[in-house]
Amino acid sequence: MDRALAREAHDLLRSARAWIEEWAEEGVNAFPIAGVATPAEGEPAVASAAAEDLERVRAELGECTRCGLCEKRSTIVFGDGNPEADLMFVGEGPGEQEDRTGLPFVGRAGELLTRMIERGIEMPRADVYICNIVKCRPPGNRNPLPDEVAACRPFLDGQIEAIRPKVIVTLGKPAASLLLGRDVAITRVRGTWHEYRGIPVMPTFHPAYILRQYTEENRRLVWEDLKAAHTRSRES
Ligand code: URA
Repeated sequence: MDRALAREAHDLLRSARAWIEEWAEEGVNAFPIAGVATPAEGEPAVASAAAEDLERVRAELGECTRCGLCEKRSTIVFGDGNPEADLMFVGEGPGEQEDRTGLPFVGRAGELLTRMIERGIEMPRADVYICNIVKCRPPGNRNPLPDEVAACRPFLDGQIEAIRPKVIVTLGKPAASLLLGRDVAITRVRGTWHEYRGIPVMPTFHPAYILRQYTEENRRLVWEDLKAAHTRSRES
């Protein structure tokens, strides 16, 4: 390299380093990038369009009294996770612990689902989105009734439209039947691809069923379904 040019580069680097050290001493540790808005100090980061859409769906749901489930519930369990998720899990309805905490899949079945996500497909649970076909606990954990599912459906559809995941995994028969539009036998449809509103759907067993029938075969089948869903969610 030309000696004069090398000298100039050296001087430039030295003064750049001096500026950076000076700014660091003054507590400056980040710079805005042209064209990218950064929130002012103390202001929350701007929510994504998906997060805003989800919030609108939640606001529309309000303190819902559209069906009888509102009478016995403690808390509405709307959903949990990343509004930008590529993978969305749809279960049946909140259980006792979910009703108490307001979060989906936090009881025993939830712990298994979390393990399946975090150890099976090696994703943090917070990177996926998890919700149910009904947002309030059916008393005694009975299956939700058709009118309860129908009353809640616009909110599930709203969540799906807000997130537009690359793949939906349904957990158990009621969620699969709802999204496939017919009464299905979960043993028949699990592991096969379907579609809902243009989004690929992979039905699999509900984790509560796996807990009841904790066989190597059932665990292998769920693992295969999740692997297929995860792979497809990364394809496009
Ligand atoms: N079972 C479900 O279907 N959903 C939950 O949130 C918890 C248990």
